[in-house]
Amino acid sequence: VSRVALNETALSESDVTAVLDTLRSGWLTMGPRIQELEQTLVERFGAPHAVTVSSGTAALQLALLGVGVEPGDEVILPALSFVGGVAAARFAGAEPVLCDVRGADDPCLDVDDVAARITPRTKAVVAVHLLGYGADVGALRTLCAERGIALVEDAGHAIGARLTDGAWAGTVGDAGCFSLSAGTQLGVGEGGFVLTADEAIAGRVRSLRSHAMTSVTWDRHRGHANTYDIVDIGFNFRLDEPRAALALSRLPRLDAEIERRRGLVRALRSALADAPGVGRPWDDEAVALGAHHRFAILLDDAAARDRVRAALAAEGVESGWAPALSALREYRALGPCPRAEDVAGRWLALPLGPSLGAGDVSRVADVVRRALA
Ligand SMILES: Cc1ncc(COP(=O)(O)O)c(C=O)c1O
Repeated sequence: VSRVALNETALSESDVTAVLDTLRSGWLTMGPRIQELEQTLVERFGAPHAVTVSSGTAALQLALLGVGVEPGDEVILPALSFVGGVAAARFAGAEPVLCDVRGADDPCLDVDDVAARITPRTKAVVAVHLLGYGADVGALRTLCAERGIALVEDAGHAIGARLTDGAWAGTVGDAGCFSLSAGTQLGVGEGGFVLTADEAIAGRVRSLRSHAMTSVTWDRHRGHANTYDIVDIGFNFRLDEPRAALALSRLPRLDAEIERRRGLVRALRSALADAPGVGRPWDDEAVALGAHHRFAILLDDAAARDRVRAALAAEGVESGWAPALSALREYRALGPCPRAEDVAGRWLALPLGPSLGAGDVSRVADVVRRALA
């Protein structure tokens, strides 16, 4: 049987050439390709500022610092997410506060539960567009504005996702954080960026990304500055030129990549539509808007999930799942978040890789049905 990977990156010859050309150029970090990528992202997403960084986690950390999170503050984040957001909040000195998700039909964060967890110390809410499906950031923006709290969007899964009002995911909050990690729709290996309409936030993210230096090497190389000053404690969270070149080369194909994933999601959803014991979170409208980082089904319980996973593995089909944050040793004390833990206890991601054909879709669906029969 042929192996079906959960995810793979398909690069074109022109992607490879773009990276090789950059290597041959002799300028490997913070140069013309970073500038071009940031300008292209500004145009692509209609956000006034784009700042590239070294990862999605770095984007979250700098965005939280950018909106003014300080030691002693609280940051509310959903319990069903990757650890990068809570780690970013802690590195900004804040205490993460976990909120629950809406439920099995829409496992993004629950706005009512966010409201219930706001205290006088709450400085920011991080809305995660889980698996590439839009969270209700319209309602969150209203809530946060009323309470004087910053809204940061974690669009690490959601580059190119649309929200119900047509806006791009990551352009509604005070800052939107994106990942360019290998498994994402625009993966370059490691990388990320922050979008914001706020000039002060953009300036702070840009400064902290590079040691809070008042000029970068590229400015000095071009004679725009001859030395620098340091005005805060910053980081080296810079993206480099080869990765920027790869992102620029892949960006024109982003919509097609998302459409390809969406086609597979629709085919898998329809092949599993009447399968007993298989839940499909979100609905057709959400599928039409989402960016499809992963496709997840919901089994009846963890035992059924393990059975399906073992049956898929026996057929060479990869699958995956991740625990809720409140189920991890480091974060258990921040729970319980029962709906997030319920979903995490029985969800399973099925493959969406570029080598997946129509035959694989029915093969995967058949294995899932047989394992549950
Ligand atoms: C929702 C979400 N946000 C952010 C990140 C962090 O991105 P990166 O891996 O680029 O640091 C991840 C990583 O998996 C993620 O799942």
